[in-house]
This record gives sequence, C-alpha cells and structure tokens, in this order.
Amino acid sequence: MIPTIIVHGGAKTIKDDKVAANHTGCTAAVEAGWAVLLGGGTAAEAVEAAIRVLEADQTFNAALGATLNSDGEVELDAAIMEGSLNWGAVAAVQGVRHPISVARKIMDDKPRLLVARGAERFAVDSGAEMCKKEDLIAEEQWQQWKKDEKVIDRPNTVGCVVLDASGILAAGTSTGGTTKQQQGRVGDSAVIGCGLYADNKIGACSTTGDGESIIPVVLAKTAIDFLVGDRHPDEAAQMAIDALASKVKGEAGCILIDNQGRIGWAYNSQNMAVAYMNTDMDRTAVFTRK
Ligand code: GLY
Repeated sequence: MIPTIIVHGGAKTIKDDKVAANHTGCTAAVEAGWAVLLGGGTAAEAVEAAIRVLEADQTFNAALGATLNSDGEVELDAAIMEGSLNWGAVAAVQGVRHPISVARKIMDDKPRLLVARGAERFAVDSGAEMCKKEDLIAEEQWQQWKKDEKVIDRPNTVGCVVLDASGILAAGTSTGGTTKQQQGRVGDSAVIGCGLYADNKIGACSTTGDGESIIPVVLAKTAIDFLVGDRHPDEAAQMAIDALASKVKGEAGCILIDNQGRIGWAYNSQNMAVAYMNTDMDRTAVFTRK
C-alpha cells in the first residue's frame, strides 16, 4: 500500500497576503504527518500530528487563533475516526491546546463525543495540554471581534486524511466554529458522517465549511458513498459538493483518500488550502486554489 496524506486549511476566501502563510502551514502539517508515517506510525497518529501543527498555527481557525464566539471566547470542536469505524470527539471545549489529541485519547479509551466541562475534565485527567482559555485568543481575532469587523479571510476548519502502509485509513477535523457563533453552538466538525468519516473498505474524508449546511447533507459520508464503483476521489468529492449546493446554501469543501491511496478534493468557496504527499512524490504539493 502507498502511504498517502492530505490536509486542508479550510474552505473560504483567502486574501492575497495570507496565501503564503496558508502554504507554509499546510506544508508543515503534511511534513509532520509524513514523518510519522515514515517512522512506521499509524494513520491515526499521522492525522493527529498533522492537525496539531495546524492547531498551533494562528493562520487557521482551530485552537490557537480560532475565531471567537459571541462572548469573545475560543470554543473548540474536533474529532478523529479510523477506518475500523473507531472514533472519538470533543465539542465546545475551552483551554485545550490540542483538541484533536483529546479526541484521539477518547477514541483510544472508548468511542464517544464529550462536550464542554465533561470534555475538559477528561482532557485534564488524561494528561492533555491545558492552558488559560485566553491563551488561545490571537490578537488579530480579538481586534476584529472588538471592532465587529466582517472577517473574510478565516479559512473555516482544518482537517487531515491518511492512508498508512498497512492500508488503514483515518480522518480528523478540528475547528473554532463560525465567527461570533452563539456560545455552545456545535457545527459539523465533531459529528461523525458530517465533519469526517473513515471506512477501510472504501475511503476517508474530512470536510470544512458551514456546519449548518454540512450537517443536513451528511457531507463526509455522502462523499464516501460516491466512491462506490471505483469512482475517482476527485470526482466523488466534486459530486458531494454539488449535492450540497443543490440542496442547501453555504460554502463547503472536502478532502478524500480512497482505499487505493488515490486523493481528491473539491470546494465551492473561493479558496481552500490543500497540501498532500505520497511515496511517488519528492515533495509536498500545496494549493490555495484548485
Ligand atoms: N465547519 C465548522 C463549523 O461549522 O463549525
């Protein structure tokens, strides 16, 4: 099996002066995940490593630098799923540096979605990196929130999909949600089938975009279902986004890997940052437009 990794930095408008930061961040995420795969790590370990890089980068709407909710707070959702159908998720957590790692700890414990205080207690008890909730607020986000500026360049959500050398697939997604979202709102990213899906027999997917549009069309599972009959992931990804656009309003994107290691992605926003790597390539490919 050819190990393959793809990451996204969110579907939305990316201003020209943010293109380089999106390229750098997505490339670094792929390299972190790729190093795990080269070291013999699993698909889930590679997904976690890649998403941790994006969560630590203020360029992206996940953990540090995430968009602020109605109360001016960073409130985070994340989930991870393996192709064995094992999964873990957190939602509406604060003061957690790497929600994807907490989701993974939950998955390795027993599959469930933990929210808010219960998730934060689990994070502390399992030794996750905690911080003051204010420590995740980036200056740029705070200034925009105070001025009530319309934010046009926050790529919405980050994600990663991996096929490892033993043919195991995994997907992960992490987000700060939507700008000025109501405190306690949870979008698609932590919801299996919507923000992510993985099935070793077919493929794996991570999505990005407006949760209120993604949830009713179950976007990640819809994209996986379009892979049946050996359809190429690029075509399946486009069909999933077209299906969303035909049924609901809203911007969305998705990245896919099938069980042969073929990749695909599609979006209906102006931009989506994407980077990928496999053993046939000598360096990471990275884009903010397809
Ligand atoms: N896709 C992120 C959200 O809607 O919360």
